[in-house]
Amino acid sequence: MEQLLQQIEELKQEIGAFAGTEADVAEQFRIKYLGTKGVIKGLMGEMKNIPNDQKKQFGQVMNDLKQLAEEKWESLKQAGGSGEQAGVDFDWTLPGTPVNAGGRHPISIVRNQIVSIFKRLGFAVAEGPEIEDDWHNFTALNMPENHTARDMQDTFYILQNPDWVLRTHTSSVQARVMEKQKPPIRIICPGRVYRNETISARAHCFFHQVEGLYIDEHVSFADLKQTLYFFVQEMFGKDVKIRFRPSYFPFTEPSAEMDISCTVCGGKGCSLCKHTGWVEILGCGMVHPKMLDNFGIDSNKYTGFAFGMGMERICQLKYRVNDLRLYSQNDVRFLDQFTGSV
Ligand code: PHE
Repeated sequence: MEQLLQQIEELKQEIGAFAGTEADVAEQFRIKYLGTKGVIKGLMGEMKNIPNDQKKQFGQVMNDLKQLAEEKWESLKQAGGSGEQAGVDFDWTLPGTPVNAGGRHPISIVRNQIVSIFKRLGFAVAEGPEIEDDWHNFTALNMPENHTARDMQDTFYILQNPDWVLRTHTSSVQARVMEKQKPPIRIICPGRVYRNETISARAHCFFHQVEGLYIDEHVSFADLKQTLYFFVQEMFGKDVKIRFRPSYFPFTEPSAEMDISCTVCGGKGCSLCKHTGWVEILGCGMVHPKMLDNFGIDSNKYTGFAFGMGMERICQLKYRVNDLRLYSQNDVRFLDQFTGSV
């Protein structure tokens, strides 16, 4: 035992003074002292020859030794990393490790484009809360309680207060703007909306919409058409056509849905447009006079139009993203493909 302790003491000094100049000095150290065939493992083998009453003391001394060796190994590794201290010449002319600067999310890119197109037509951006009350999300929009139109949108209710919902559409912001502002009103409202849907490639429990609202004297359906036509041409190019189909929304009359010629197949027919050549991108219509009256805007004097579109759909048509889930999975292999866009 005495002799062993003496040997360990010498080893400690040896380890403390260990130095080398080669690049792999840390690895050499590890093999010599900490490896499976190393000095420390070998000494551990002596344990069986130690009398029982001294085993504990020997164990402690060995632990100290091992800890010392591991610390030394760490410091050798670190010194090796900076090269110089381990005696290795560091090549300062080597290129640095590239830093991934990241990029904008595709939905943000599309949102910025939409906002900039409508800004050029004089639309300002308005925002509203994502947790909304029943009045702004439904009732003010001509969807009183028990109105069947409420079923069009599967709603998330807030448990603590059934009067609160996660807004199902950005039309709630229309209501908020009309409440505060008097015509002329010309706003768009981009934002996140929520619906109680099972998540799949084609449906998600949250997505993004942009709402548009224009109220002034003499606003007509022709203005709506021209505004949307301008938007589509700016967004998708001059070759893209639009068409309107009659539809129903409780807060607009008349109401329509707008399709654009498929940007993937150019209208010839493909799987995205289900071989029709057309893809629906938004709902729209003339603001219902009842809505205007709800907010004290004289419906004999003023008229207006409104529209609402899904940003994910616009993004899908622009970038051919075929699965809605990709937008919220944060997979950098997906997101990296948009780096460099604005
Ligand atoms: N809010 C409607 C929806 O979510 C879209 C819409 C907005 C329709 C404005 C007409 C006018 O489906």
